[in-house]
Order: sequence, then C-alpha cells, then structure tokens
Amino acid sequence: MHISTTIWMLAACLGTVINASNVLEVNLVFPRNETYAPNDTFPVVFAFKNSERARRLNPSISYSLRDEDGDKVYNLWHELHWVNWTNQETYFAHKYSNAFSTEGRWSVLWTLSWDSCNVESPEYSNEVISNSTTKATMFTTSNSAPKLDPVSATANKTCTGQPGVAINVTDKTKSISSALWEGGKYTNHTCAVVAASPTPSTNPCRTQIDKTTLASMEASKLASYCDLHFNEPAECPDKKSAAQPLAVAGLSCLLGLTGALGFFLV
Ligand SMILES: *[C@@H]1O[C@H](CO)[C@@H](O)[C@H](O)[C@H]1NC(C)=O
Ligand SMILES: *[C@@H]1O[C@H](CO)[C@@H](O)[C@H](O)[C@H]1NC(C)=O
Ligand SMILES: *[C@@H]1O[C@H](CO)[C@@H](O)[C@H](O)[C@H]1NC(C)=O
Ligand SMILES: *[C@@H]1O[C@H](CO)[C@@H](O)[C@H](O)[C@H]1NC(C)=O
Ligand SMILES: *[C@@H]1O[C@H](CO)[C@@H](O)[C@H](O)[C@H]1NC(C)=O
Ligand SMILES: *[C@@H]1O[C@H](CO)[C@@H](O)[C@H](O)[C@H]1NC(C)=O
Ligand SMILES: *[C@@H]1O[C@H](CO)[C@@H](O)[C@H](O)[C@H]1NC(C)=O
Repeated sequence: MHISTTIWMLAACLGTVINASNVLEVNLVFPRNETYAPNDTFPVVFAFKNSERARRLNPSISYSLRDEDGDKVYNLWHELHWVNWTNQETYFAHKYSNAFSTEGRWSVLWTLSWDSCNVESPEYSNEVISNSTTKATMFTTSNSAPKLDPVSATANKTCTGQPGVAINVTDKTKSISSALWEGGKYTNHTCAVVAASPTPSTNPCRTQIDKTTLASMEASKLASYCDLHFNEPAECPDKKSAAQPLAVAGLSCLLGLTGALGFFLV
C-alpha cells in the first residue's frame, strides 16, 4: 500500500522520549471489555509502551475481529517494519474498521509475534528465537451506549478483562546476518536478547487515548483515505500546492507528542 507523505512527515517529527525501563509492553488499548455504541469507523488501537525496546525484535501483530454470534471474521495485520521505534515513548498502531457498525457481541483475537537472538549461541552461528502469543478481548456494541468516544472510553486507568504482553528486552544485542533473519535490514542486522523469566506484568488500561493521539489517528485516517480516493473530497490537502504539506507537517508536529499512525480500512 502507498504510504502518504503526510504519514512520513508525521513520523519524522515526533519528539524523542527516553525511558529507562527494559520492558516493552504491548496492549490492545481500544476496544476494552466494555459496551460501546456501534460505529462504521470504529478504531482498533494497539499500543507499544516503551517502544524503543521493540526496535530490534522485528515485531508484528495479526488479529481478527470476530462476530461472537455469527460467522463474520475480519482478518487484519500491522506492518511494523517501517516504524521508527526510537522517537516516541508509546507507539500506537491502529486501524479503523467498519466491522462493528451494528449491535452485537464481538471479540478481538490478536497475536503478537517477535524474534530475538539466543544469548547462548556463538557469535557466528546465531540462532533466532521466534516467539508469539495470542490474546483476546470481548466487547459489546449497543445502541443504548453513549456515542463512541475513544478518549473518554479509555480515561479510566483501571479496567478488567484486558490482557497484554510484556517482554523484558535486555541491553544485550548481537549482530545477525539477513540470511538468518528477514528482519535484519530493518534492525541494522542487530537482534536483541530477551530475558528468560519472570515475565513482567502488564497494565493495559494505564495507556490512554488522549486528544492528541486521537487527532493524530484521525489525521492519518484522512491522509490514507485521500490517498485511496481519486476524486478527493474537499477536506483532502491539495497535492499540487507546495504550501499544504508544510502546513500538515506543522500540525503533525503539534500532534506528535505521542505517535499514532495507521491506515483507513474500508
Ligand atoms: C462514529 O464515531 C465518531 C467518533 O469517533 C463520531 O464522530 C461519529 O459521529 C460516530 N458515528 C456514528 C454514526 O455514531
Ligand atoms: C528515528 O528517529 C530519531 C529521533 O527522531 C532520529 O534521530 C533517527 O534518525 C530516526 N531513524 C530513522 C531510521 O529514520
Ligand atoms: C515466549 O514468550 C513467552 C511470553 O513472553 C515466554 O513465557 C516464553 O518463555 C517465550 N518462549 C521462548 C522460547 O522464548
Ligand atoms: C467481557 O468479557 C467476558 C468474557 O471474557 C464476556 O463474557 C463479557 O460479555 C464481556 N463484557 C462485555 C461488556 O463485552
Ligand atoms: C474505573 O473502573 C473501575 C473498575 O472497573 C471502577 O471501579 C471505577 O469506578 C471506574 N472509575 C471511574 C471514574 O469510572
Ligand atoms: C548500524 O550499524 C553500524 C555498524 O555496526 C553503525 O555504525 C551504525 O551507526 C548503525 N546504525 C544505526 C541506525 O543504528
Ligand atoms: C529484566 O531482565 C533483567 C536481566 O535478566 C533483570 O535484571 C531485570 O530485573 C528484569 N526486569 C524485569 C522488570 O523483570
């Protein structure tokens, strides 16, 4: 898929945040195990907290949106190879879906996959450890729920029924050849060593979708929509105008304290 210049600019101008923790936490932050109003552009949002730690793990997320009372299944995934993990504390990966446009009971079944290197293997026979884990969150849509608002819906820092993944990524790294690892060229041929145990705990509801993140998500939704549609609606930036992309980039920098990039999904 074509990635718009707007998204690249948005990615390029986010600020650097340093976090000393070793632990990468990956969570589904929206929807939660709650009840929402149906909506035909319903965001599904994952967060990589302490995202710098994801840089050498070659991570990916595949997930399905399931109708618990029917047979509809929507399979989706996140291409994360081009993410610059170093420049933001929390990286949000999101897609807007039309799957939840009616009342029902749904689930988001998601699998996080990542690669790391085996600290035991000698330097020139590097062994890649591929790992993955699958989590599920159920939620409900009902017309009696308040209008969909991801900001207020994630404001509560306490919630239940929301599993997450935490990975203790040590400072230890090894160089690895592309022949062994397809993620090599995206990670500067460096893999990270993941600490054995114990697995750190997660706190999915500590990550909020704030107004800045939502605005950034909506900006990338619009950018992707404009890329996909030939007859651009009035709200799309004029690609022929030189001034417009700069204005968009300026806005992106304002919005970019936390990054939120994704594609519009029809
Ligand atoms: C869908 O949600 C957005 C906010 O995310 C809201 O602006 C819009 O009105 C909602 N659509 C419907 C049909 O409720
Ligand atoms: C990632 O972002 C950091 C900080 O903004 C920047 O210094 C670095 O050059 C970027 N890396 C790439 C590959 O774009
Ligand atoms: C894979 O990850 C899980 C959860 O983080 C962990 O418990 C398990 O030990 C890992 N497996 C390997 C082979 O590293
Ligand atoms: C929360 O999840 C449980 C099962 O995990 C499910 O039975 C319940 O209906 C869910 N709550 C909502 C509001 O979706
Ligand atoms: C936040 O959620 C917890 C647990 O679900 C609940 O006890 C608490 O009342 C909620 N707080 C607010 C402000 O809604
Ligand atoms: C990639 O690795 C080379 C050699 O190990 C190093 O000089 C360079 O700074 C690295 N680049 C990044 C972006 O980490
Ligand atoms: C992560 O692993 C390192 C090295 O094994 C260990 O010292 C540290 O306590 C671990 N951190 C957490 C939060 O488990």
